[in-house]
Amino acid sequence: MSITKSVGILTAGGDSPGLNAAIRGFGKAGLGAYGMHIIGFRDGFRGLVENRSVRLDEQELSGILTIGGTLLGTSRDKPHRMTVGGQVLDMTDKVVETYNKLHLDCLVCLGGGGTQKNAYRLAQKGLNVITLPKTIDNDVAMTDITFGFDTALGIATDAIDRLHSTAHSHHRIIVCEIMGHNTGWLALGSGIAGGADVILIPEIPYDTQKIADAIAMRSRQGKRFSIVAVAEGAMSKEYAQDMGAAMEMKKNAANKKEKAKANDAIAALEKQHASHISTLSRNLEELTHLESRVTILGHIQRGGTPSAADRLLATRLGTACAKMISEEQYGFMVASKGDTTEAVPLDQVVGKRKTVPLDHPWLESARMVGTNMGD
Ligand code: F6P
Repeated sequence: MSITKSVGILTAGGDSPGLNAAIRGFGKAGLGAYGMHIIGFRDGFRGLVENRSVRLDEQELSGILTIGGTLLGTSRDKPHRMTVGGQVLDMTDKVVETYNKLHLDCLVCLGGGGTQKNAYRLAQKGLNVITLPKTIDNDVAMTDITFGFDTALGIATDAIDRLHSTAHSHHRIIVCEIMGHNTGWLALGSGIAGGADVILIPEIPYDTQKIADAIAMRSRQGKRFSIVAVAEGAMSKEYAQDMGAAMEMKKNAANKKEKAKANDAIAALEKQHASHISTLSRNLEELTHLESRVTILGHIQRGGTPSAADRLLATRLGTACAKMISEEQYGFMVASKGDTTEAVPLDQVVGKRKTVPLDHPWLESARMVGTNMGD
């Protein structure tokens, strides 16, 4: 088969289970069905700037479907603000240079919200770009789901299951921090699936007294333990109010001095928020007179073998991406819509974050089974 197109591919942002499955799906379809020449860039956009690449052929793409992480490596580097030699520089021209030097027809970027934005910037510079949505946070706009989410959901649910027996044995509260950046998809999903007694998500600022009341009520019913699933971005009502006021102050700042003051207030609040899980645990201990422990699941949620659903989703999106390139459809994110895929223009994706809507059916179900949502 004659070579039709030269395509670059990279993975950027936090790694996520299913990245290798997506690279494989795209690569195998690109090579086999469309005769593409495929070049993988190392470590996200940095590999593109530094022209560090590897030719992806059948051999490289074999045996990777079930492996976590990304064979290409990743980074959180942004082309327009990259640290090089201790300085933060705009390296976009270098990206364009590599793209032209390698005679690429298209660049495929696999990543979350930040990657969509960076890819869009490159599209505005005239590059043919396509993206796939990946992140365990499930917060990319305009797609039903992102790959990585289902695996992380399974890991967090398993952790909550395991916390039950130890919380029960010691008659303790266990406050479990779950990833998700500024959205509550992962905490809400795993909290429901794992039967957490309290679920706290950023979309619903919490009232510590109300949580303590719910835990005390459980104690009176003879249930002398409680599992509190907390999204890392969850916040108390007071914090949400203070942060809202600081942001407003920044927005309305009349001069540099006022803006600097607002920025200082925001930074101080963020610092305080870094330890909010342990503060919550301590406060619950004081209010309920039950012992409380904190468990932070951390990067375990991003590691290891992707679930079957993530492998399937990543393969579906990867192969659809190869097809779109063969049809020269550029400037899109390959989104998942039900059982099908949809090409969504990148300008409709960037600058948005998919949060949990307050009328989402998961929330309704959680409340109906008696879960306290902190409000
Ligand atoms: O976006 C994925 C994610 O795991 C978030 O849930 C979390 O806030 C963040 O990345 C952690 O980033 P890092 O791996 O850079 O510490």
